[in-house]
Amino acid sequence: MRSIDQLVRDNIKDLKPYTSAREQYMDYTLTLLDANENPWGAIGTIDNHQVLNRYPDPYQQALKQKLSEIKDFPAERIFLGNGSDEIIDLLIRIFCEPATDEIITTAPTYGMYKVSAAINDVAVREVSLDQSFELNAKRILESATRNTKIVFLCSPNNPSGNLMDPSEVSMILDGFDGIVVIDEAYIEFAASEGFLAQSTAYPRLVVMQTFSKAWGLAGIRLGVGYTSTEMMHYLNKVKPPYNINQLTQKQALAAMEGAHEINMLVAKVQNAREYLRKEISQMGFVEKVYPSDANFLLVKMQEPRAVFDTLIENQVVVRDRSTVRYCEGCLRITVGTEEENTRLVDVLKRIGS
Ligand SMILES: Cc1ncc(COP(=O)(O)O)c(C=O)c1O
Repeated sequence: MRSIDQLVRDNIKDLKPYTSAREQYMDYTLTLLDANENPWGAIGTIDNHQVLNRYPDPYQQALKQKLSEIKDFPAERIFLGNGSDEIIDLLIRIFCEPATDEIITTAPTYGMYKVSAAINDVAVREVSLDQSFELNAKRILESATRNTKIVFLCSPNNPSGNLMDPSEVSMILDGFDGIVVIDEAYIEFAASEGFLAQSTAYPRLVVMQTFSKAWGLAGIRLGVGYTSTEMMHYLNKVKPPYNINQLTQKQALAAMEGAHEINMLVAKVQNAREYLRKEISQMGFVEKVYPSDANFLLVKMQEPRAVFDTLIENQVVVRDRSTVRYCEGCLRITVGTEEENTRLVDVLKRIGS
């Protein structure tokens, strides 16, 4: 098996990273004349308690410390990105040589792995999930070549909603000679611990989570990568110096003070998901509601486009996945509030009647 050092692109290995002013002296009570900031303060701040005229902590130490306590995971092995989407892009840039290397994704899955790869001129091998959207490790391992640097797995998977089978994932972790990313954006909604505990045994593993879903903070753009110290070295080397802004850092810290509320919120989503499943399954034009461990349902139906259009006419927006390979006939429906779900069900019932 190749080590992380052997997998990294040569230019990244040789890279002298930018050293930011706030790296050494992260104390706003000092006389800070090192970073060309405006010492008088921000114009028109939305909150006077924020230090917005200063660059934020480049390594987000307070945030990582708190997350470390909540997740019982070493702070020095937590990487924070401007959304998980930034982490996906950084990983591709660290490991994949443009026009030479490639990544493997499952299909169907979250679209950004492919888009990030395309932006970086990196080829994508798509290995389809089976009819029930289950992972086939053997097929993934057979598809990998010497130039396959990263396998992206998504569990629970978007748009299908199911968790990946741990034994299939383990086969990939044991058998793939490259980086494995497990995207757990929806893990809080699942009755599963996920793969965080595997991190210590597999330094080439990155488990991604996000504040965008269960934490209700999609607007602040904060994604998390749980990984090894070797991987942290390269992620920190290539990241933009101040990739997590001050408002985001403060808001995420405040959110973590309320971490106990997550269980209640997740229970609410799970109950609403089962309500929607029950209602939608009964509709005549619906062929299948796929099992979901996430905060959305993938629903196969007759004439999905017509259903989508009627929903839009009634101000209800869902995601049309019917033209996506392996999702033919499907709409993806996010679990909303009670009121939103009732509205959705009412419109669907009218279509069905
Ligand atoms: C599987 C998956 N990963 C990542 C993301 C994006 O996460 P973030 O908001 O942290 O960039 C999404 C968003 O829908 C997603 O479905």
